[in-house]
Amino acid sequence: MKALILVGGFGTRLRPLTLSVPKPLVDFANKPMILHQIEALKAAGVDEVVLAINYQPEVMMNFLVDFEKKLGMKITCSQETEPMGTAGPLALARDKLDDGSGEAFFVLNSDVISEYPLKEMIDFHRNHGGEATIMVTKVDEPSKYGVVVMDEKTGTVQRFVEKPQQFVGNKINAGIYLLSPKTLNRIELRPTSIEKEIFPKIAAEKQLFAMVLPGFWMDIGQPRDYNTGLRLYLDSLKQKMPKLLASGPSYIGNVIVDESAQIGEGCLIGPDVSIGQGCVIEAGVRLSRCTIMRGVRVKKHACISGSIIGWHSTIGQWARIENMTVLGEDVHVRDEIFSNGGVVLPHKEIKTSILKPEIVM
Ligand code: GDD
Ligand code: MG
Repeated sequence: MKALILVGGFGTRLRPLTLSVPKPLVDFANKPMILHQIEALKAAGVDEVVLAINYQPEVMMNFLVDFEKKLGMKITCSQETEPMGTAGPLALARDKLDDGSGEAFFVLNSDVISEYPLKEMIDFHRNHGGEATIMVTKVDEPSKYGVVVMDEKTGTVQRFVEKPQQFVGNKINAGIYLLSPKTLNRIELRPTSIEKEIFPKIAAEKQLFAMVLPGFWMDIGQPRDYNTGLRLYLDSLKQKMPKLLASGPSYIGNVIVDESAQIGEGCLIGPDVSIGQGCVIEAGVRLSRCTIMRGVRVKKHACISGSIIGWHSTIGQWARIENMTVLGEDVHVRDEIFSNGGVVLPHKEIKTSILKPEIVM
């Protein structure tokens, strides 16, 4: 079975992290975002993944070559010379997706994290027999998304409205689709939007069906949502694979710690923290609601809350980092510094405190 992941976009809202790697390669819960999706696809029986890319394809491919072998899947790129939107890339990759067998294929947005009940989705798709299935989820603020009005019993989609100005409903497109090759006949080879131009048409013909996603979902394309996503993800991990969470007197709530990380004496860590590969957390450190990426050192008695610390950064002794501070790769914060919502570009040294949320160039 095949799948295409939409990997376009520059990830501007997740800067400074996306100044170092394309958004799908930014770590989330100790592995690149896109790996969460590729692993879920693999588990559902997908053996070939096409990445629809419009910039930096080499970086992505270099990275994924390793995983191709590890996961035993074929991973290829379909590169656009201009951004093709969310439907155009399907037309471009048509030959890869449609091998003539008539088998449905998955399409995923790359910036969401969720439960991936893809096998259930395949069953749902078979049972309704229509052309396309989309996964939907309920949110409080539907206007930022594609809103779906559906028949609750049959799942038939009555309307699909992308980013509605007025309230139409609170079930939204989760960015996970299962499409039959027939859908490819509707898409022209030009920049075009699946949400605005294709789904409304399939819905009008009563061929679009929606499945309500059981479990959590979050678009993690910006820091605050990324942090909320981590909380939801760890909570789900606790239900499903509690052994993967750290335990012991140093931990409160849900925390994951890479096995190669070193944790000093007398630390208090959690809730909702991920600590990456090779990190060194020195004695007496306090961490809550934060992501500590690969190779970071946090020195004695530092305190980090509600923040993201990019790869290979260091945090000085007694430093206090809080309120959605985001440090890019290789940032060095001196001892006793305070950061209140600082957004710091890669390779900087922070010598004076950041007293209010601002970007440090
Ligand atoms: N290859 C390629 N080329 N990918 C693209 C392009 C492009 O030109 N433009 C966007 N993408 C990718 C993005 O990287 C992302 O994975 C996906 O397509 C959706 O684009 P976003 O820019 O993130 O859209 P959105 O978040 O405003 O809305 C979409 O996602 C919502 C769920 O998070 C829509 O699908 C909404 O209907 C949906 O509710
Ligand atoms: Mg998005």
